[in-house]
Amino acid sequence: MTLILAIESSCDETAVAIINENHELLANVVSSQIDTHRLYGGVVPEIASRLHVENIGVVLEQAIEQAKLDLHDLDAIAVTKGPGLVGSLHVGLQAAKTLALAYRKPLIGVHHIAGHIYANNLVDRMEYPCMALVVSGGHTELVYMDRPMHFEVIGTTYDDAIGEAFDKVARVAGLPYPGGPAIDRLAQKGEHRYDLPRPLHDKTYNFSFSGLKSAVINLAHNTRQRGETLVMEHLARSFEDVAIGVLVDKTIQASLDYKVKQIVVAGGVAANSYLRESMQKAVESTCPDIRLSIPPLWCCTDNAAMIASAALEMYQLKQFSDLSLSCKPMIDLEG
Ligand code: KG4
Ligand code: ZN
Repeated sequence: MTLILAIESSCDETAVAIINENHELLANVVSSQIDTHRLYGGVVPEIASRLHVENIGVVLEQAIEQAKLDLHDLDAIAVTKGPGLVGSLHVGLQAAKTLALAYRKPLIGVHHIAGHIYANNLVDRMEYPCMALVVSGGHTELVYMDRPMHFEVIGTTYDDAIGEAFDKVARVAGLPYPGGPAIDRLAQKGEHRYDLPRPLHDKTYNFSFSGLKSAVINLAHNTRQRGETLVMEHLARSFEDVAIGVLVDKTIQASLDYKVKQIVVAGGVAANSYLRESMQKAVESTCPDIRLSIPPLWCCTDNAAMIASAALEMYQLKQFSDLSLSCKPMIDLEG
């Protein structure tokens, strides 16, 4: 029986999970710092690192207790090596390297986005070739995979990530950080009443959300200057319609062009109800033979279960790191 302990600390969640070879989670603990960062309207890197230092030992102990096992029983220690905030990544990495050294276990350095994609393996099985739409706070990417752990980024954003755009629109609407879930809830009650530009609707697989973000800021400014009220529900719905429309259209196009068997949606924004519903409808109407897999809400945003799931794949492929592994704040998925 293979047992892997995984640590995630790339941004503002300190998380530890333990997985077995059947993709069963023996432990899954996430300690979120969101309540602290909300006070500042976003993640403050220095505070994030300090909180990781405070939390990592407690979260590790909780996970080991949940799994009811001895650290000697583990087969490998996995950790997010990047991308992310350097100080945050460093805490998880030092914890993982210490455990690997003390218990003489192999170390597996996992790319955070590989983790988001392999969150799907916790509830479904990846089928290749597949197309992953990665939508998170820091990433908007279309990733083609012809085999396990082999990533080809065929499209990316020229500027803002989709999660950033959600958070910015929420800020304009006066909503607390992180704004994505709040925009999601508001949009459910709104209609597409505001005319916003459709972002980069061209033949490439790339994205651009900064123009849309500016359009929302200008709309809010002009509406207030005219003494009119901005209806937040309608703003949220209008924004989602154009932003999610382009994500869905490009994912479908890329999946047809690359003749994939499966579409996987990954990352924090995969929790968005409108994206989930729109993608489902688009697949049913345009390519019903392609299987769509979207992870359940509990593993869309950052957690260590997804890192453990990717690590399991890497363990089988013998993709180990040595103890000189350092954190990689900017590493790309193909590297
Ligand atoms: O994957 P994640 O937890 O962290 C990164 O790796 O960046 O993604 C966080 C992002 C935030 O921008 C947050 O606003 C967004 O995911 N998010 C959502 C929803 N839940 C989280 N965006 C839209 N709708 C949601 N329901
Ligand atoms: Zn993430």
